[in-house]
Amino acid sequence: MAVDLLLGLQWGDEGKGKIVDVLTKNYDIIARFQGGPNAGHTLEFDGIKHVLHTIPSGIFHPNAVNIVGNGVVIDPVIFKKELDNLVKFDIDILPKLLISRKAHLILPTHRLLDAASEASKGKAKIGSTLKGIGPTYMDKTGRNGIRVGDLEMDDWKEKYRHLADKHEAMIKFYDVDVQYDLNELEVDFFKAVEELKKLTFIDSEEYIYQAQASGKTILAEGAQGSLLDIDFGTYPFVTSSNTTAAGACTGLGVAPNRIGEVLGIFKAYTTRVGSGPFPTELFDEDGKTMARVGNEFGATTGRARRCGWLDLVALKYAVQVNGVTQLMMMKADVLSGFKTLKVCTAYNYKGKTIHHLPYNIEEQNVSPVYTELKGWDKDLTGLSAADELPEALNDYITFLEENLEVPVKIVSVGPDRTQTIYR
Ligand code: IMP
Repeated sequence: MAVDLLLGLQWGDEGKGKIVDVLTKNYDIIARFQGGPNAGHTLEFDGIKHVLHTIPSGIFHPNAVNIVGNGVVIDPVIFKKELDNLVKFDIDILPKLLISRKAHLILPTHRLLDAASEASKGKAKIGSTLKGIGPTYMDKTGRNGIRVGDLEMDDWKEKYRHLADKHEAMIKFYDVDVQYDLNELEVDFFKAVEELKKLTFIDSEEYIYQAQASGKTILAEGAQGSLLDIDFGTYPFVTSSNTTAAGACTGLGVAPNRIGEVLGIFKAYTTRVGSGPFPTELFDEDGKTMARVGNEFGATTGRARRCGWLDLVALKYAVQVNGVTQLMMMKADVLSGFKTLKVCTAYNYKGKTIHHLPYNIEEQNVSPVYTELKGWDKDLTGLSAADELPEALNDYITFLEENLEVPVKIVSVGPDRTQTIYR
């Protein structure tokens, strides 16, 4: 069976956790392929809200196997907290959660390096979640990293010490004020590593190959969004992994010709957390309304998210880079009550009208060209069928489908599993 992908098409926070949770019943295996605890995937059901950072969003389903793939970076301390939070749900974790030996570990000093690097950037800071993501991927590509499989070797603590000492020297080099007590951080780290070692480590590329060969259905769950991709995002204001479809191939060991459906998730408007360009950002009451109604605060850091109109130019780019075959529109309910909705369909770029995402989308280079569409008043949160959607919302969706040339299959009208409309 082919592996289906589920990817965020904007700057993250599109609602991937909810959709994976809704779709899990169709899959035997859910696999994360990149990112780490910078992600915050929110799931809501039975009146309880759950936030997962590293553990795949299929963990609450009785039968799904969840894999943390080789492309993921794992912070044992945060991972342990996630596991501790699951205890009360009486989930039989051991057979349901498998970890790739090739996934890299986030060390306490990676987090400190992240903080030092951001502090040294002053106004140019990326707005990182400071979870140590960048420094860990730097050590991965620099061939210095420590992997989950190393924990099975006798000499891993020597490797650890060597790397942590090097990191401490680097932190000094930044010459910024980062206070820390590494001994204290290491007590937590080594305790958490012991917990991690109780889980099953696998050669995930082989596991997935065999699972495919035996007809198992697999969903690869992306983290962050396409515009945060290290290659195709708004560099340097991006994360340090490939968040786009190709990342699933390298982050799980799945061959490109084994990818099936590519499910692209987007919000009915746009949000961004952290720094970086955002052409359709709103600074007026409309933006504040989106933030308030949409409860736009980061699931990982609690930071307020910046809000703006839907950017079809950027969305089209993400659809193309990922080869999206089906779209899922989230948070349609948040737009109820706007008289007019604006959608960015082109950019004014250095005096010209363009329809693609150029190299520079900073404010001084790009201004959005909007098409206005009629809004709707109806509260959508209690709806359950496509034929109950207001006409103006159907028109909004049709407009997007015509521009993106991909069908919108799911419309989400609230955070709960049940608030999901299939088209
Ligand atoms: P980092 O990956 O934590 O270093 O953060 C780099 C940039 O990506 C920052 O602007 C973060 O706010 C953003 N970012 C990282 N992870 C997420 C996410 O899961 N959702 C939304 N933004 C994210």
